[in-house]
Amino acid sequence: MKRITDRITAALMAGASLIIPSSSLAADGVEVNHLGVNNTLVRVTGDSDFLILPVQESIDDARINVLVDGKIAETIYVRLAQSKTDYTVPFDISKYKGHNVILDIVAPHGRSSIREAKDAVCWEGIHLSDTFDSTDRETKYRPRYHHTPMHGWMNDPNGMFYKDGIWHLYYQHNPYGSKWQNMTWGHSTSSDLVNWKHHPLAIYPDGLGSIFSGSCVIDKENTAGMGKDALIALYTSAGTSQMQSLASSTDNGETFSVYPGNPIITLETEARDPNMFWNEETKEWNLVLAHALDHEMLFFSSPDLKNWTLQSAFGKGIGAQDGVWECPDLFRLPVDGTDSQKWVLLCNLNPGGPFGGSATQYFIGEFDGKKFTADTDADGKIPTKWMDFGKDHYATVSWSDAPDNRRTVIGWMSNWQYAADVPTSQYRSANTLPREMKLFTQPDGQIYLASVPSPELEKMRGKTVTSLSGKSVGKKGMSVTLPSANGGICEITASFDSKNASSVILTLANKSGDKVVMTYDPKKHTMDFDRRESGVVDFSENFPAVTVSPTFEQNGKVNLRIFIDRSSIELFGNDGKFVMTNLVFPHEPYSTLSIKTENGNARIESLKVYSINI
Ligand code: FRU
Repeated sequence: MKRITDRITAALMAGASLIIPSSSLAADGVEVNHLGVNNTLVRVTGDSDFLILPVQESIDDARINVLVDGKIAETIYVRLAQSKTDYTVPFDISKYKGHNVILDIVAPHGRSSIREAKDAVCWEGIHLSDTFDSTDRETKYRPRYHHTPMHGWMNDPNGMFYKDGIWHLYYQHNPYGSKWQNMTWGHSTSSDLVNWKHHPLAIYPDGLGSIFSGSCVIDKENTAGMGKDALIALYTSAGTSQMQSLASSTDNGETFSVYPGNPIITLETEARDPNMFWNEETKEWNLVLAHALDHEMLFFSSPDLKNWTLQSAFGKGIGAQDGVWECPDLFRLPVDGTDSQKWVLLCNLNPGGPFGGSATQYFIGEFDGKKFTADTDADGKIPTKWMDFGKDHYATVSWSDAPDNRRTVIGWMSNWQYAADVPTSQYRSANTLPREMKLFTQPDGQIYLASVPSPELEKMRGKTVTSLSGKSVGKKGMSVTLPSANGGICEITASFDSKNASSVILTLANKSGDKVVMTYDPKKHTMDFDRRESGVVDFSENFPAVTVSPTFEQNGKVNLRIFIDRSSIELFGNDGKFVMTNLVFPHEPYSTLSIKTENGNARIESLKVYSINI
């Protein structure tokens, strides 16, 4: 370390007059020069892969222009630590090897003096390293079998595609902090949808803005002229305004080249999250774009993925309208497993969900390559349908090119109401479990979307810890112990017949007094999920909640699959006809499941608890 006092002493010994040097104490290979109260230059003089930046969660972002040989190569926003370091983030400088790298940093707020500027703890903390310590420091709450970013913030899943046995998942990512910022496509892959491998950042902000949500397709016929089987990504460039941009990859999505002709779609109003697919019937590409503030979706077609023609719009005044429309998806599915098919338009909405904040609504209908027409109900109205009846299921979209005609989706397991406040900091947010989409018809003729846990999830079942059948439960109820290993992660399957009971109450509890209460009401045909006393709930007034789902049955019989991870519960009911995805932050893992009725007896046909091998 060069000591600032050594430099002053040296200057005085050399007979120089005492001018306070603008430099601060800094690590080897890093030189810090203050240019005034709010502006500092950090020059990289050493040679390493990463510049490690100290972050303080509670302060505002500093704007950092990264100058490479004097030109702005990128701009990032980081909450550079002022009074204490909460955690550090790695800034990859390996790509600039052999060049002069200077970080031109503008502090977020007026500082009163240069002394205050120099006192910021980040200047001593910024250092070079060839490694970044990614050891998990969030073992209490980081999910074990859900995808999470290694560090930093995550929101929407993006651009998922399947190729050669590998499921690719990109995601909205801030690599430089645990709050939304610097939107970049992070990248992970999996061969089983359970174990995920992290890859380097895939697409990062450029002159047109940061990289918002989008989709990927494999261009099997080289329609875009970027190579046969090239992977084409379409995403929103979000600068001052939002526009749509294209990038291509010929190394299976590891790295992307940004199309020089970007942007390829511009509109006068806010539109984002392009979702495209090959339409086999019209032999054209189709694209759905969220016309966010107009609360509608726009439909485009294209022969070559670059030139898009606007064909129609759907949504004005239809369905839930109390928030911006975002992250669309459009796909066709067989109805009840027959040959008859329907189109499904997914339409994520924030706020305006049934329990506050973000949620996914959907419409069933027809699509002819140009126009989407929604089915109506008996009254001639287009009904609002929800895909999940929890608070933590958003931005759900599907994989392109999934095998065996599967329509596999994944969502962001959080809610914009409190995603940045949940009690984790090394990383923020997980994805939901992957789900298979099916359509089923109800007695009133309405078609609904079912979400069935992807079959891969059964492979992670470990020991059967509890197995019982044909048991009657009443008001006194019964209770079973849940596995304690691995932070209490487990899967519970249960089916019961409750014709003769007023309600069936399933409670997960621990010794700290935390509990999650799931109540089935056979008369109302509903399931309540109460997480008001589930553990740590006070980080946001919007977190403690009871969510309610229809159970889509008529006979008092319910089957459930409940997946418990370290900070989430996903309840799939009646073969996926209803789903409730809710985050929970228990003080310690839930250790018991009890089942009782309020009145009368229910018959437990089957109850199993599986530990999870991962
Ligand atoms: C949805 C969303 C998208 C946007 C992205 C930005 O959660 O608002 O509309 O592309 O997040 O991160």
